Formats: sequence, structure tokens, C-alpha cells
Amino acid sequence: MDAARIDEVVGDFVRLKKRGVNLIGLCPFHDEKTPSFNVSVARGIYKCFGCGKGGNSVSFVMEHEHFTYREALVYLANKYNIEVEETERTDEELQEETRKESLYIINAFAQQFFQEQLLQTEEGTSIGLSYFEERGLTRDTIDKFKLGYCPAEGEVFTQTAIQAGYKLELLQQLGLSNQYGKDFFRGRVLFTIHNVSGKVLGFGGRTLSADKKIPKYVNSPETEIYFKSKIVYGIHQARKAIVQQDSCFLVEGYMDVISLHQGGIENVVASSGTALTQEQVRLIKRYTQHVVILYDGDAAGVKAALRGLDIALEEGLNVKVVLLPAEDDPDTLVQKLGGEGFRKYVEENRKDLIHLKTDLFLSEAKGDPVKIAAIIKDIVASIAKIPDSITRSLYVKQTAKMLEVEEQLLISETNKILRKGAMDKLPPQDKASAETSDTPVIQREQNNFTFHFDEPQERDIIRLLLDNSAYEVEGENAIARILRNLSDVEIDHPVYARMVEAYKTGFEQGIFLPQSHFMHHDDIELRQLAIDLLQTPYELSDNWGKMHDVPITDKQFLVRKDIVKSISLLKLKKILRMKSDVEARMKELQDANDPSTLDEIIMCIKESMQLQQFIQKLSADTGTIVLPVIR
Ligand code: CTP
Ligand code: MN
Repeated sequence: MDAARIDEVVGDFVRLKKRGVNLIGLCPFHDEKTPSFNVSVARGIYKCFGCGKGGNSVSFVMEHEHFTYREALVYLANKYNIEVEETERTDEELQEETRKESLYIINAFAQQFFQEQLLQTEEGTSIGLSYFEERGLTRDTIDKFKLGYCPAEGEVFTQTAIQAGYKLELLQQLGLSNQYGKDFFRGRVLFTIHNVSGKVLGFGGRTLSADKKIPKYVNSPETEIYFKSKIVYGIHQARKAIVQQDSCFLVEGYMDVISLHQGGIENVVASSGTALTQEQVRLIKRYTQHVVILYDGDAAGVKAALRGLDIALEEGLNVKVVLLPAEDDPDTLVQKLGGEGFRKYVEENRKDLIHLKTDLFLSEAKGDPVKIAAIIKDIVASIAKIPDSITRSLYVKQTAKMLEVEEQLLISETNKILRKGAMDKLPPQDKASAETSDTPVIQREQNNFTFHFDEPQERDIIRLLLDNSAYEVEGENAIARILRNLSDVEIDHPVYARMVEAYKTGFEQGIFLPQSHFMHHDDIELRQLAIDLLQTPYELSDNWGKMHDVPITDKQFLVRKDIVKSISLLKLKKILRMKSDVEARMKELQDANDPSTLDEIIMCIKESMQLQQFIQKLSADTGTIVLPVIR
């Protein structure tokens, strides 16, 4: 698997950014807010300094997709269009081929069959292929989405499959054949439904008849491998673009997804005509927090549909909605406007979900106070679904303005719902006391620090690394521990940064570099730094031991304390500086008073609050600074 470039393989699942010679991103194997997942292209490996997971392309795919070794090889082979050698399988392995796997195999067989029918038979080309071509699809697109055709005559597919050795019972279970042994999809063009990694879960079949009595689409039934509520159509083809663009379009139909792709908009999936489920939202959330929902202009109940989107708010997604012109769906609009024109349309017409709801409802109520009261209830219910308190309070402010009601009214309505929600989760005896507490909406904080360079703190870290390579702390090598704690810190001083980078590189290869490595290093600056630091060894006085009530001989304890304190101090310095930067930016935005910067202001407030939390934790670790916090 030498062809598999680690950055490309990982890049399909993780948003990577350049950091020095390596790439860095949010670890897909544990929950984190600051990136500690490192990818080294030169070495073809990844390593998370947070959770410790590491390995190469094959192990990444195995771990991430829950593949066996073999499946991982096949996956990578497909990605790079190379052959994997068929290895002889043992009886045991054959037995292990579970029922589920045979369902996948049959689906793959069916997909291949339908594709061949579409492209290589007279009936397929003259009926199916010409239909897709009429709808503007190119051969590349048809191939990319594995479109197919099922012959109109009763049982061509079923018979072929049985002859190939597949059991009728399983064909029926998959919904490929009906109870009479006839082809379920006969005479329809087919859309193949893939899971995230490209396995075939089922099919959607569209009739070519204009007869209104015939259902336009029929779909594979739910099976052991296909759960409609857990998948969105197109995720396999879209996920890379979703990660890259950090945003996902959500549409309703198969053709919408496919036409957008062809127009160059690849970060798109479809809910396939059903209401969005929590599992679908969570699937999308694995790749991005930002969703833009495109509604057909003719969608009868846009408002009802909008209610269905509360599920996305609840999961903390940032949801924008675009209403399309009455006569269009995304498929027809992108074919009309082209990719660029479509993007522009979206840019100009996308609205924040809650604002849109407020707008739509208001125009309908036409000043009727009873209706407006109902609207307030509805909107407040949506706002209360948002997990993040700061976003919530900003929405409260804005909708209060739009609805021309007192902000306080919306706040207390929202809090009512929140308290009720919280209480529903409490055991009965706790409910009475919980009732009186109010949910704090925004917490104010203030600090009055001035910052200098972080050089002394950074230097201290280098000293720790040089000094302690031979020590273990709680079963972990001191260097590993330091690097792990440093994973979310950017070292500013260029020479110190190179030094840390060298330790990381060593660590990725399983080596804890000793002092001597740097004493004789080719890089003269690194060598000088090591010599400087080691010539003035950091000595612990007896006093230090007495002060902290530990015998000075307990080196392990001292090293641990030292690491925690030094790193916390460095982080504290950096975070205080970041916080003041963020706050300066926020003030600038607020002074400009431009509504389109709302998203950014929210981000700033959130960031500043998050930083404040870090600051408090770090102050406790360093034990030296107490921050004034005003509530
Ligand atoms: N759908 C379905 N069964 C139906 C109708 C619709 O499963 N009887 C699903 C399909 O996934 C379809 C989506 O709902 O793609 C949206 O339906 P619709 O807007 O009617 O179809 P389009 O996708 O626009 O299909 P086309 O452009 O081919 O008419
Ligand atoms: Mn359509």
C-alpha cells in the first residue's frame, strides 16, 4: 500500500491544516476542541498526542471505518485504482463471512448487474441511459453515482443472480426480488445508495412512466444493513468535499445531489424525501457543523418542514436555509444557473433558520396578537433547543427585535422551557429545589493583564525536555508527557519550536531523544541552546522540598509538578494573549454594528468564554495567579 498517501487517506475524514512540516487536525478517535492529531506525510504516519492513537494508512482506515485488515486493503486499493491480490481464504474465514457480508456481496453484484444493463444492453441504453442523458447527466456522473437500469421483462435479474449462486431468499430479503421471484425494480432506472465508505446498502428506483398512479420512486426495504434513518444519500461521494469546505448542503432528492455534483458542488447529501432524523444529523456532524438546507420552491409545507429542523438545532448545528424559486428544485436550478450561478444564488438567499422562521410566521400573522403569541411560543421552543447558551441569548436579542417584544419576555419564556427540560431529567425529590434557580444567560468577565513575550516560559519547557528524558511519570516517559501536554500549544520562538519539533519527530519513531543528541546536533542553534541550558542546570534547593512538603529525593513527584506548572504557565501566558486579541476583535465588530458579522461575533464571544475557562483552570494549576471574575 505504498501508493496510499497518509494525508490523502486521513484527509477524507479529517480536516487537516499545515503546521510546520506536519499536518494537524482534530482527532477523529476522541473528542477534542483543539487539534492534537498529527500527520507526517514524509513518514506516512499519524499520531494523536491527545489519545495516543497512531499508525499508518492501513491502520487508520481499519480503526476509523472499523474494517478488518483485508477490508482496509480493499478500500485503499479502490481509492487508488490498484488491484489487491486475492488471497486464499481459510474455512474459518469463510465461516466468518457473516450473513451481513453476504447481503453486501449480493448488493454489489446487483449494482454491477444494473450498471451493465444501463450501459451495455440495447434496452438499457435506449430506455435508461437516454433518460439520464435527457436529464443532462454525463457519462462520468452516471459512473460516479453507479446509476443503473433494471430490465422491464419479469425476472432477468433474479434469474441471473440465482445462476450466480445467490439464494432467492436473500434476494427477497434485500427487496431485489418480490415474493413471486420477479424483479422488484423492473423497468426502472436505479440510484445506488451507498454507506459512508461506499458499500451498497440498497437502491432507489424511478419509474419512467408519467402515469400518476404509479409511484415515482420505489426504494429498497430496510434490512440488516440498510437503516434509512441512519444514512443520507450521497455521503460517500460528498464527505471529502464536506470536510474540505466545512459545510454541507442538504437537499431532498437523488437527482438534486447528482446534478449539484455535476455542477461542481460536491458537498451535498439528500435526506431522500423523509424528515431529518437525529442519526442523520449526527452523521453529518461527523464532518461539519455547518448545514445549508435547500428547500424546493414548491414544497407545500415549508413551515412544517422548518419545524422538522429543530432536530439539527438540538444537535448544535449551525443551520441556514435557502428557499428556491417556486418552479425549481436544486436539480433544475443548478442546470439553469450552472455551478457558479447556483453558489451565488445560495450566497444571496440563505437565511438563518430562526430568522427565516420568524420572518415567515410574522408575515402570515399580519399583526393578529393571538397568532403572534403562538409564533412566540413556537420560536422560543426552537431557540430553547440550541445547546449553546451564548448563541441562544443572541437569538433571543435578535428575535425580540424582529417580533417587537421585550427581550426579557423571550428570556423568561426560554428559561421556562429550559428549566422544564432540565427538571424532566431530575428525580422527583430534586424538582422542588431546582425550580428556584435561574439559568444564567451570559456571564461577564474582566481582566486587567498586560502581556510580554512568552520566551522565558518557552525556554523552561525546553529545559524540561532536555532534563528529563530518562524519567517516567506515572508510567509515562516525561518527554511523552510533556509533548502530550504541549499538543495544543504553538511555540513562538523559532529555535525553541524546532527543538520541540525534533522531540516530536523522535517520539513518532518511538525514540525519546537524550541530551547528548542535541549536544552534538548538526543544527548549530539547537546545539547552542542545549549547551546553554545544560550549563546552567536547574537545581532544586532543599528549600523547595520543604516548602512543598516532599523529600527532595522524590524525583518523579518533582518532575510531575514541574511539568504541570511549567506548561500551565506557558499556556496561561498564551491564552491570556489570545483572549485579549479575541476581545479586541469583538469590540471592533460590535462597534461597526454590521448585522452580517453576527456569526463572527458569536464565535468571538464563545471563544473568549472558552478561553476564560481555560484561564481559570490553568491559574489553579500554577497556583500563583488569581483572576478577578465579575458576574
Ligand atoms: N421519494 C421517494 N418516494 C416517492 C417520492 C419521493 O422515496 N414516491 C424520495 C426520493 O428520494 C426523491 C425525493 O423523495 O428523490 C424527492 O422527491 P421528488 O422531489 O418528488 O423527486 P425528485 O428527486 O425531484 O425526482 P425527479 O427530479 O426525478 O422528479
Ligand atoms: Mn426533481
